[in-house]
Order: sequence, then structure tokens, then C-alpha cells
Amino acid sequence: MEIIIQPTANAASVIAARLIARQVREKPDSVLGLATGSTPIATYQELIRLHREEGLDFSRVTTFNLDEYVGLQAEHPASYHAFMDLQLFSHINIPRERIHIPDGMAADVPAECARFEAAIRAAGGIDLQLLGIGSDGHIGFNEPSSSLASRTRIKTLTERTRADNVYNFGGDFAKMPLHCITMGVGTIMETRAVLLLAFGAGKAQAVAEAVEGPITAMNPASILQMHPVAKCLMDEPAAARLKKCEYYRWVFDNKPQWQRV
Ligand code: GLP
Repeated sequence: MEIIIQPTANAASVIAARLIARQVREKPDSVLGLATGSTPIATYQELIRLHREEGLDFSRVTTFNLDEYVGLQAEHPASYHAFMDLQLFSHINIPRERIHIPDGMAADVPAECARFEAAIRAAGGIDLQLLGIGSDGHIGFNEPSSSLASRTRIKTLTERTRADNVYNFGGDFAKMPLHCITMGVGTIMETRAVLLLAFGAGKAQAVAEAVEGPITAMNPASILQMHPVAKCLMDEPAAARLKKCEYYRWVFDNKPQWQRV
């Protein structure tokens, strides 16, 4: 895992956007895996800026989102469909038919999960997967104890995740779904490159366990230690509990020119 610690979340987000932009410029028909939550918003804002001001072209890009709540219409303001539209898709030139988000309203959830996996395969696999991390170490909605080999499936949200995200539902737990559809940990591990973002002190423990702890289903992000191309971009508060901070900084500052962002 490559650990990149930046002074602010914004600085880290600009790097993340540059890495995504580089991927799209080098391979205009890239397949991107996208994430929701507050964490990637600044990265999406920078991508929108790059699209508007520098002509970053998404016309041949295909996207797959990690997850969606079960039982929410795409039009529901707290759905991840609505989030992606608001934060990214309505501001860039990506064709609608190239956007894939699990359908939380599917009558047959296992069939929807199988369809989603098949669509990823048909697109040739995901080139670059953007990830946030839950305060309990989840990636996508793969909560602690998720199989590290899991595929896209239904999951039940933990109380902690529900508490972290209930603000999207006006603070009302009764309005918040209990279930979601999420790409599996195994699905995420098959992506060609991973970019995990972690911001704020609330993520420090999960990040320390994921990066420097043992690989365990109790912190699903820890499996990224086994991913061949995983970068973890964070701000200072999220890095606060890492033991080898100085080493990670030294590595970043001494990269050969051709490896710099
Ligand atoms: C949700 C999403 C995750 C995201 C996490 C963190 O659970 N399913 O993909 O990483 O929230 O959210 P935030 O970025 O708001 O801290």
C-alpha cells in the first residue's frame, strides 16, 4: 500500500482527482469505480473543474458505483443515485448508459447483484476504484465480518454505520434503510487499482488498523494490503494513529520523477 499524507483533505482530493484524470487521459474508455459519502465530494469537484476548464473528457468512460440502499427510489434525495447525479454526473459529459449503480428497488435482489457483476465483467473490469472508509473500516458497505472473498450482494448495515449516515435522512433512523446492495470485497479486490481516501480524526483508528494492523474481516479495508496497486490518500487527522508516518512521508518526498503525481 502506498500511503500519501497531505496537510488537508483538499490537497489530498486534488491529488486523487489528478490520478483519476491521468487514468482517463491515458485510457479514454476507462472503467471507473466510484464511491459516495462526504469523502469523495472534493475530488468530484476537482474533476468537474478539470472537465470545464481543461476539457477532461468523460464521453467514453464507464462507471460502476460501489453501493446503494435497498428500498430507495433513485429519485430519493438520500439515494446514492441522487448523490452521484448531484455531485458529479450532471456536471460532466458522461453518457447516461455508461453509468451503473446497483438498483436498490430491484424486486429480485440476488438477480440484480448477479446482473451488476456481469456488467462489470462485460465492461472489461474496473481500471481504477475510488474508495472511502467507514469509521468501522468498511469499504463500500462491506461491514466488519464481511467475507473477504464476497461478491456484490445484500448487506445489513451496522448500528454504527446507520448512526454515521443518518444525517442524510434528517437524523431519523425510521427513514433509513437497514439494507443495502454493495460490491463485495472480492469484487473490489479484482479492480486494477484502488484509491482509498480517508479524512478526519473519526477515520484515524480504522485507517491505522487497515494499513498497519493484521488483515482481518473485522476491518474489511485491511484486505487492501493484498491489493497490488493500492494508494491510500489521507489528511493529517486521519493519519494521526499511524506508527510509520515519517517513513510514508519520506517515501512520498523521494519518489523518482516519473512516479510523481
Ligand atoms: C458509506 C459509503 C462508503 C463510504 C462511507 C464513509 O458507508 N457506503 O462508501 O466510504 O460511507 O462515508 P463518509 O465519506 O461520509 O465518511
